[in-house]
Amino acid sequence: MSFIVEHEPPYQVGYFVGSLAGASINRTLSTALIRLAPPELEFTEIPIRDLPLYSYDFDEDYPPVARELKAAIERSDGILFVTPEYNRSIPGALKNAIDWASRPWGTNSFARKPSAVIGASPGSIGTAVAQQDLRSVLSFCDSPQMNAPEAYITMTPGLIEDDGTVTEPSTEEFLREYMQEFSVFIQRVLTVVPRR
Ligand code: FNR
Repeated sequence: MSFIVEHEPPYQVGYFVGSLAGASINRTLSTALIRLAPPELEFTEIPIRDLPLYSYDFDEDYPPVARELKAAIERSDGILFVTPEYNRSIPGALKNAIDWASRPWGTNSFARKPSAVIGASPGSIGTAVAQQDLRSVLSFCDSPQMNAPEAYITMTPGLIEDDGTVTEPSTEEFLREYMQEFSVFIQRVLTVVPRR
């Protein structure tokens, strides 16, 4: 076992958008987060749209789209979840992706991988319940999570433009701080859990 600690930037962040909708407000939020992130973070979306519904019947021979999902997570230094709340939980498409990545048994791609969760809703509690569910799932998947700051975004019309520009200064500052903290969190985890 190597004890050499590698933690030089840049840090690769794989991000999930939990919505498949064309006009997703969470996709817009993800665009804003990337714009506001510190320069040491590099972002790659991990797509979930084309995954079949998971069953352990696939475990003997994962399809290429699921192999790529696992590889994308494993290449990442940290994982960012930007998700809506559907019926007070996470969308089925996102849970399906997590189930794929967590299997076959013994090859859970999230193990020891730092993560952060954030989400937007038109509602006033801003995906808080879905995020709690997601945190529970990620705990089982052995992913160290950024505990604070929490981020529950109530998406009012015009708050974030399509190009990711945040029009409200206090929200912009909050989201910048959130991404700065995520960067620090990734680095902190990497100092004890080397990336390769
Ligand atoms: C919702 N919406 C919703 N909002 C919320 O705050 N809590 C909830 O539990 C739900 N439940 C829910 C279920 C389903 C099936 C849909 C389609 C929607 C509303 C939701 O926040 C809104 O549609 C957002 O625009 C979803 O985010 P995306 O998909 O635009 O990123």
